[in-house]
Amino acid sequence: MTSVTDRPRIAVLISGRGSNLQSIIDATRSGALGATIAVVISNRAEAPGLARAREAGIEALFLSPREYPDRDAYDRALAQALRERDVVLVCLAGFMRLVGQPLLEAFPHRILNIHPSLLPSFRGLHAQQQALDHGVRMTGATVHVVTPDLDAGPIVMQAAVPVLAGDTVESLAARILVEEHRIYPLAIAAVLIGRQPPDPPAQCPASALAASVPFEASDAIRIVELRSAAGDTTRELRKRFPRSSIALFDDRFNVASLDWWDAMRRADLVVAPFVMPALTDAKKQYLYKAIGDRVSARGGVLVLDRVDGSSSPLLHQLMWLKHAGFAHVDCAWLVGGLAVFGGFTPRAAVSESPPPAGS
Ligand code: GRF
Repeated sequence: MTSVTDRPRIAVLISGRGSNLQSIIDATRSGALGATIAVVISNRAEAPGLARAREAGIEALFLSPREYPDRDAYDRALAQALRERDVVLVCLAGFMRLVGQPLLEAFPHRILNIHPSLLPSFRGLHAQQQALDHGVRMTGATVHVVTPDLDAGPIVMQAAVPVLAGDTVESLAARILVEEHRIYPLAIAAVLIGRQPPDPPAQCPASALAASVPFEASDAIRIVELRSAAGDTTRELRKRFPRSSIALFDDRFNVASLDWWDAMRRADLVVAPFVMPALTDAKKQYLYKAIGDRVSARGGVLVLDRVDGSSSPLLHQLMWLKHAGFAHVDCAWLVGGLAVFGGFTPRAAVSESPPPAGS
């Protein structure tokens, strides 16, 4: 176990409200994010997020751009303040300034940003308004690495959010914000894990999968695992959910055949460890839909697979899960091309009552 003082030191840069900052503070406090926020820096004196930092006992620094002759000088001052505090990762959270070369060079690939759209759609300001203007049915939130081009760096994590009839910028922004708050700490943790000597859960994708199941350890959940013999994921799930039941299949199990799909009926969790490459894209979509139709009202699916070229792109799979009716869709863990992702709480859960007589 790492002690609090060994934790990687991160910084959060803000310009305003700081609700994402708050979600990061909360995650470091609960232990969900194994990091210490060394400093919060704002380019605006009146940013309410500075007070959030102070309340949490975190150093809150206002660095006024007016005191520097140009953008580069300001960025150098930022870089210096961050280096002095031994920061290893910089997280922009509503920081309303373009990040220039001096800061990018001081923290290469070590600056993250959160943006309220599914990038590469709707870069720049007013992303929610852009989504409404285009009439898209699906938008979301993206955590990405900051590069010289605005909102164009490598994507770390995304969550999809539906656009509903009658949405205003405010209602859509609020729905996206819920997902922002959920994925930003997860994305920071994923980036830190990829860089640090990994903790045991990070070395073992099966335990990362078990850790990301959104049920209480004491829940007697019904799990269906798409494999014929118990493996690492089965063991990790048994460890975390000792009261659960885990259904496996026999030796003739073939994931690509459709005949076993009813075994998932009313399961709370369907686990698909390394089976997706056996399916065509059409079958994956069909499978996700079938799971969404069959699992219990709180149920969902978790997939453990490669997403680095040997399988369908992660984003496509997340979209298919969303289209299959899952409300909480995201990638919980991504290290070295291996990912744990899935969806929970189907909005159109199957009725638990028996079909009417004669049907
Ligand atoms: C968020 O919507 C974030 O995606 C964008 O700016 C907003 C900041 O909100 N970059 P808050 O200050 O974290 O509440």
